[in-house]
Amino acid sequence: SVIALPGVLDGQLIIPVVTIHDASTAPHVVAALAAGGIGCVEITLRTSSALEAIAAAAATETLHVGAGTVLTAEDVDRVAEAGARFVISPGLDERVVSRATDLGLAVLPGAATATEAQRALTGGLGAVKFFPADQLGGLNAVAALAQPFPTLAFVPSGGVSPLNAARYLRHPAVPAVSGSWLAPSDVLAARDYRKIEKLSREAARLVKEVQG
Ligand code: 3PG
Repeated sequence: SVIALPGVLDGQLIIPVVTIHDASTAPHVVAALAAGGIGCVEITLRTSSALEAIAAAAATETLHVGAGTVLTAEDVDRVAEAGARFVISPGLDERVVSRATDLGLAVLPGAATATEAQRALTGGLGAVKFFPADQLGGLNAVAALAQPFPTLAFVPSGGVSPLNAARYLRHPAVPAVSGSWLAPSDVLAARDYRKIEKLSREAARLVKEVQG
């Protein structure tokens, strides 16, 4: 892509989405992702352990650790305090964006329509998470939205897998993809860190192929 992602997300082509129920597993998850060649992790605010998991992951100082499912400005304060370096939201809320910007965090809000993409641009953003990408029409939808907004980057999320990630990444408007396939819930529940490393390695290989 010709359009860079903000801050620490710049240069990350795969953003793993991880939902952690037991914070003590976070360092192992991060270590497995890193061993597989992944450079960042989005820990979702979907469990009561999320903030503790972010702190535990950030303390390893291996990957860029960020927070996902960030819905309010107060969430931004909490994840910043825990050590998150970037913030990702399923939708677009200017209060979340401005708080993250004020705190020096990279921010990637969600957009699913042309109206939201336009609002993101008006708000000075260079990139949005296109969510839920697969359900919205996948690459065809990204390509259609990229036409009127040639300066906006789209990070597809939702239904991204090894089957479609490379195709997304080859589109010039797509600097990165995000998804839970590197650390799916069943694999996390089984604490199968080898599996996470294997899936990460495969994803990193796919990135190398795309980069040629
Ligand atoms: C997200 O949380 O960003 C998406 O729900 C990830 O979607 P996936 O689980 O389909 O990868």
